[in-house]
Amino acid sequence: MASERPTQRPRVFSGIQPTAGSFHLGNYLGAVRQWVALQETHDAVYSVVDLHAITIAQDPKELRDATRLAAAQLLGAGLDPERCTLFVQSHVPEHSQLAWVMNCLTGFGEAARMTQFKDKSAKQGAEGTTVGLFTYPVLQAADILLYQTDQVPVGEDQRQHIELTRDLAQRFNGRYGDTFTLPAAYILKEAARIGDLQDPAIKMSKSASSPKGIVWLMDEPRVSAKKFRSAVTDTDTVIRYDPEAKPGVSNLLDVYSALSGESVARLEEKFAGQLYGALKTELAEVFTDWVQPFRTRTLEYLDDPAELDATLARGAAKAREVATRTLEAVYERVGFLPPR
Ligand code: TRP
Repeated sequence: MASERPTQRPRVFSGIQPTAGSFHLGNYLGAVRQWVALQETHDAVYSVVDLHAITIAQDPKELRDATRLAAAQLLGAGLDPERCTLFVQSHVPEHSQLAWVMNCLTGFGEAARMTQFKDKSAKQGAEGTTVGLFTYPVLQAADILLYQTDQVPVGEDQRQHIELTRDLAQRFNGRYGDTFTLPAAYILKEAARIGDLQDPAIKMSKSASSPKGIVWLMDEPRVSAKKFRSAVTDTDTVIRYDPEAKPGVSNLLDVYSALSGESVARLEEKFAGQLYGALKTELAEVFTDWVQPFRTRTLEYLDDPAELDATLARGAAKAREVATRTLEAVYERVGFLPPR
């Protein structure tokens, strides 16, 4: 089972929640950009994880819109349905089905140790914390294991969930025979920590950033350009990369380098003797040039929801080919009576 592969390339699986509306620059540089690159070297499977989204209450229309928007942005960023598998999690019912089996293999204490659950449940309060939120990491494990995934590209904050996934895979394999590939975390480091433009010491994130510190990719480019131009730096004047002493300037150099492909060292040379204003103005231009085609493509996908939905349906069909095979093996090994 675990060795069956449609291609020789290692498989990657990752998921993104459809909750933030527009992606921000941190999402793109920290994750989406790597997803796009991995299509060239890996058998890449990506999902908009709407089942995970409802672990926190969602407005139905907003969830539907956000799901299409997330998919459109992934396509706009360069995911190619011919070269990867892109689908909406709830379109593949095997995720929920495998999650149940995995729930029955997960210790209560084991799940209670997940730090992300502890953080999120503390924020939600006892009343707002659902059992779904508690078993969120188990559903994530099911996502990964269904596809016999080799590598899981995620940020550092997901490491514990990947560890749990490995533990569950090993437990299942040990108890029922070799069924699941043991996945490894593929921690995204490069430019993975884009800082808030107003408070570069904190990560650019939906929950933590100030409105002026966070760059939304679907905003009008001139709104974001202004945010770059008014980014917080320091009282020194030298454009030098030093994340400790000069977090603001260093963050701008990181973003510039990531968007332009020029090395930070090269940028330091280029801006030698210039003031911060020059860096900010040029970065605003580099960003605008990069974001415009992304926005245009994304809006084109959103303009034709029927075509977008058809693309997602094809993705789900492709995903199900693998998912049904894994689930069948799991059901058989667990001892479920096959339906006739
Ligand atoms: N929990 C992940 C996050 O918040 C999203 C996710 C869901 C995921 N299922 C996944 C990531 C499977 C990787 C693999 O970022």
